[in-house]
Amino acid sequence: MNIVVGVTGGIAAYKSVHLVRLLTKGGHDVTVVPTDDALRFVGLPTWEAISRHPVTTSVHDDVAKVRHVALGQAADLVIVAPATANSIAKMTAGLADDLLGTTLLATEAPVLIAPAMHAEMWRHPATQANIATLRERGVHIVGPADGELAGGDSGPGRMSEPEEIADAAGALLAPGDLAGLRVVVSAGGTREPIDPVRFLGNRSSGRQGAALAAEAAARGAEVTLVAANVSADVRGVTRHPSVRVVRVGTAAELSDAMKDAAASADIVVMAAAVADYRPVAVSDRKLTKEAGGVPTIELVENEDIVAALAVAKRPGQIVVGFAAETPENEAEMLERARRKQERKGVDFLVVNAVGWEHGFESAENAVHILGEGGVVAGVASGSKRAVAAAVWNAVRG
Ligand code: C5P
Repeated sequence: MNIVVGVTGGIAAYKSVHLVRLLTKGGHDVTVVPTDDALRFVGLPTWEAISRHPVTTSVHDDVAKVRHVALGQAADLVIVAPATANSIAKMTAGLADDLLGTTLLATEAPVLIAPAMHAEMWRHPATQANIATLRERGVHIVGPADGELAGGDSGPGRMSEPEEIADAAGALLAPGDLAGLRVVVSAGGTREPIDPVRFLGNRSSGRQGAALAAEAAARGAEVTLVAANVSADVRGVTRHPSVRVVRVGTAAELSDAMKDAAASADIVVMAAAVADYRPVAVSDRKLTKEAGGVPTIELVENEDIVAALAVAKRPGQIVVGFAAETPENEAEMLERARRKQERKGVDFLVVNAVGWEHGFESAENAVHILGEGGVVAGVASGSKRAVAAAVWNAVRG
């Protein structure tokens, strides 16, 4: 595919070298169109070497080939990474005072931008209004991520990682095996309040659920990610243009959000760790030792959400459950998982062994995926993204 990568003048331009590399390695024909300002960060020879195409910033080069419109017309996708606050403002206004500006006006291909700027500039109403206008026009926006910025500050404004941008680009270009499907994935761990400062919770980070959402989006699905108290590093994964994030706290909130999204979903995946019980009464005021004695917290059982979703399944809908077990051995794990699959009525059950050292909070995972009749439909280990890919492979059959 023909991809134009516009690079504007921000320090994140250095990360776009890797982006261009990922795209060319993916078999795409990439033309880089930097702005003059971008060349102060990464020089022209680097872009030419990495893209293996001549690079210019000017509308006055290659005039015979009407380059200022030809690039945009021939493109299957235009990416702007980094997209600075200034370049976003120029795009919104439709300014065409350089080759990137004319290319963006001349193209009918999808446009994907990866904003990068200081948090204050990102939050400024002018930038937010520009982003809203671009979104309305159908521009796809990836990021920005929350994290360390140039100069030691931190906040939203950091350009998404090249892999994430390449994934978003891939989803826009290739229909993917989940194209046209709506999926809903829950991630993280619920928290059941005891009083205004305390809760009953669990160690789930939400990384596996977020990886499932990212992988589904990369394969073309429209994704709703219902995120319960996910760890900060998961948030970047959720900024894919096809991922809608619904934040929840308690099991009851998660249940409402899942039922809402499942009503129009083709595939439902419950990767969240849900509290089985919640306190009967939530104190309005912090429990204190001054009250004397040791408090007793009476619990009541929460609804089994995935079982309820399986009962309410739409025709053709697939429901996937997860199970984290602490078994003696693999045989016991699979036996427990099969019983759970049947009890909950789910089409697939993804089971992993967890312990003090592995499973929760880590970047890696190892799972067995049980399909129809409890038959092992897949086994995967490695990064949570690799496990996510195996789960979608099993679900797609
Ligand atoms: O019974 P267990 O907690 O091991 O089951 C795990 C699976 O059930 C996961 O898919 C989890 O999201 C789901 N679950 C649920 N509602 C609960 C407890 C677990 O949907 N109350």
